[in-house]
Amino acid sequence: MQLNLAFIGFGTVGQGFCEILLEKEESLRQLGLEYKITAISDIAKGTIQNEQGLNLEAVLKTVKETGRIEETPGAKPGWNSLETITKSNSDIIVEVSYTDLKTAEPALSHFKVALENKKHLITTNKGPCALAFNELSALAKSQGVEFRYEGTVMSGTPIITLAQTSISYGNIKEIKGILNGTTNFILTEMEKGKSYQAALKQAQALGYAEAIPDADVLGWDTLAKIMILSNVLFKYPLKVSDIPRQGITDVSLEDIKKAREKGSKIKLIGRIKRERQKIQAEVLCERIPLTHPLASVEGALNAITFKTEYLGDVTIVGPGAGRKETGFALLSDLCQIYQRLSQGRKK
Ligand code: HSE
Repeated sequence: MQLNLAFIGFGTVGQGFCEILLEKEESLRQLGLEYKITAISDIAKGTIQNEQGLNLEAVLKTVKETGRIEETPGAKPGWNSLETITKSNSDIIVEVSYTDLKTAEPALSHFKVALENKKHLITTNKGPCALAFNELSALAKSQGVEFRYEGTVMSGTPIITLAQTSISYGNIKEIKGILNGTTNFILTEMEKGKSYQAALKQAQALGYAEAIPDADVLGWDTLAKIMILSNVLFKYPLKVSDIPRQGITDVSLEDIKKAREKGSKIKLIGRIKRERQKIQAEVLCERIPLTHPLASVEGALNAITFKTEYLGDVTIVGPGAGRKETGFALLSDLCQIYQRLSQGRKK
């Protein structure tokens, strides 16, 4: 089966996904999946298209050398983002534009137009999945298309797929997790004695933290992921105002030392608890006992502990960010769509 993809956004994650597509081209073909990228639209890097398929190696080389995509050999001028969705001969829209946690735009419009035009949608964009999940899921269902978002929480670590399948089925009472790599990296460095400012600088130098790090250090990113998990696991659309939120900016070396003396570590935790029909959520700095698996999650790693009725605690640890790690989430979404479509054909 051949699937044509169009990209909205072509930053680190989109490029990482393309690199994986090239590396795995042969194994995907062996699975029966052939792909073409027929259009790319990026607000900063330009827009290109070719209905026969763009030369992906050339696109990656051009963006690496020039920071733009328009001079890619064989590429024709493309369209703006909404036209790329409606005019390209694509089966799947890969939405990897920037995240806005206040309005979810412009990604929310991209999502809606893609689904309304009966295109499957794969994304790592948190805004729409946090703020408009039910509406988008219902739209995808009514249009008979797939909507997948594995990379929105813990990058390619398959938390969303797990939450939608085996571990769920009414089994989960609570989840608590380290869902932000930047803040966990900073707290880990502070454990070693570094000041907050020095640890933040290091996180910025390593590309974890943005120049303006507020989304991470003030807990907004964790909050968005908690909203997504509540949507996926509990079908419960939390509002931003439902979730008390703390960041890590007030954590001092003294706090960390005191926690250590009490046999614990300070971690930025996102939590959702279900009691009867009530859902409670929060983002807060918590002392985690050294004996708990979350205490040993260091650096930019993420982890989630599911408190379950029948399995007790189940903790999954894995990457939560990164070019290839998040790119892999898109590969996993693509392959799951391919599996669904090929099962449909067999029926
Ligand atoms: N800024 C996020 C983090 C990236 O540090 O975890 C992944 O959502």
